[in-house]
Amino acid sequence: MSHVVAPPSAVVPGEATRQYLAALAARKRERIDWSAAPPTYKRYPAKGRVVLPWREPSLPGDLLRGLLGVTRAEWAHGARTVRLKRPAPSGGALYPIEAYIALRDGLYHYDAAHHAVDLVRPGDHRPVLHAALARPPAVLPELVVVPAAVFWRNGFKYKEFAYRLQCQEIGVLSAQVLALGERLGVPMGVHWRFDDAACQSLLGLDPACEGVLGAFTCGTTTATSHVPAPTATTENHPPPNTTDHLPPSVADRLPLLTALHAAGAAPHPGVLPPAPPSPRGPVVRLPAPRAVRLTDGLARRGSPDNGFLPRPIPAGTLAAVLAHCAAGYPGDLPGTADAPVTVTPYVLVQRVTGIPAGAYRYDRRTGALVATGGTGDVRSAPLQPNTRLALPEAAAVVVPVGDQATGATAFGDRWYRLQQAEAGLVVHRAALAATAAGLTARIHSDGTNPVTDAALGLAGPLRSLSFLLLGTARPGSTVTTSLT
Ligand SMILES: Cc1cc2nc3c(=O)[nH]c(=O)nc-3n(C[C@H](O)[C@H](O)[C@H](O)COP(=O)(O)O)c2cc1C
Repeated sequence: MSHVVAPPSAVVPGEATRQYLAALAARKRERIDWSAAPPTYKRYPAKGRVVLPWREPSLPGDLLRGLLGVTRAEWAHGARTVRLKRPAPSGGALYPIEAYIALRDGLYHYDAAHHAVDLVRPGDHRPVLHAALARPPAVLPELVVVPAAVFWRNGFKYKEFAYRLQCQEIGVLSAQVLALGERLGVPMGVHWRFDDAACQSLLGLDPACEGVLGAFTCGTTTATSHVPAPTATTENHPPPNTTDHLPPSVADRLPLLTALHAAGAAPHPGVLPPAPPSPRGPVVRLPAPRAVRLTDGLARRGSPDNGFLPRPIPAGTLAAVLAHCAAGYPGDLPGTADAPVTVTPYVLVQRVTGIPAGAYRYDRRTGALVATGGTGDVRSAPLQPNTRLALPEAAAVVVPVGDQATGATAFGDRWYRLQQAEAGLVVHRAALAATAAGLTARIHSDGTNPVTDAALGLAGPLRSLSFLLLGTARPGSTVTTSLT
């Protein structure tokens, strides 16, 4: 008689996360095999293609373009190359997230390169997606955007670390979609908790290659709260229109990513764990936040590649950035209407008028900074050359902080995704706010490390989860998009 022994990750909630984090902590610099890079864009057969209008305002065209459209070209003068960029940041500009969209008449894939949508399945699949959400909106959404990661798109470069970036990028895109919705005048909802298998199978994605990581619901179709029960399931539908160039499986290439993504698939009731004790020290008051709208950062945002002018910024501007980081949002974790619930914004102040340099936790209730007792000095950290150059010039560093382990008790390994997404949402809101205030900002993931954690005064299970430098742009780092 043969015994089937389940892998530990399948039975102990949080075990896949623990193994994944241990591997990230132990990882060494690896040679990048650029020849292993898969195509930059995913394409479906042209049958059923709808080219979206480029100039006149349109929904969903403007929403998709504002999320993932190819909107910017940047010259790298030294390398004599042009890089095509998109509106929201992405680790290494590799853009692993593809977008699908469920409309009244069909499920489509967004072809970013051509600003078109290709039909994946005819029919109205919004009720199927609606039913798959842990906290669905009361009414059937006008449309549902489903972002999914192509694991190998950035996995060939970042290996297992790619999943961390993908999860953070879902949070970045969530912040982006909320700002876009505000600009377009349509209410958006952000969903990170759903039935993975139902969404994967609707989209026809192999979970060893691609993973659905979120859903963005938009507007409503009716004024009533009646949501039709899904009449269609994926079983009674024809197989989806698929691309000839399926992304490669990462099951053997990135086994820890594969295990963590699979372990996070189970839906959990999700009661938030109590917040871990945070450092308490002298309180430094911030002035009233300067009035800043995130929507004003959309068109001009771009990551500076030549550091910052080492100039102080007004404290009211930092107050505005932090207030946006800590603001509530229409998410599907309990409590997000008031504030992010899995991370807390911290800040390393370097050049802010009237605020002593140092490490602080932002207290959203009082709008004040609480000194953590950390040194604020991260110079001895193992940093990449561009971080080492830009860090001393930045005015401040925004760092979302959280406990990566405790939430697994209630949310299982899904906690990893949820928390990384919130970290991405927080830093992207900070980047949009900084841009709207006339500053510039860049994520430097290498800034999250044990030296930073100590410099921030973090104790126990608290860890830095992202690291956003912000400050005054150097001349020449202008960004223009067609998102205006
Ligand atoms: C999750 C995430 C992690 C990132 N990590 C780094 C990093 O470690 N170092 C860096 O220089 N840039 C980092 N970036 C910035 C990207 O390189 C940048 O967004 C990308 O080149 C696209 O350029 P853009 O932001 O100007 O649109 C990160 C961006 C994201 C979204």
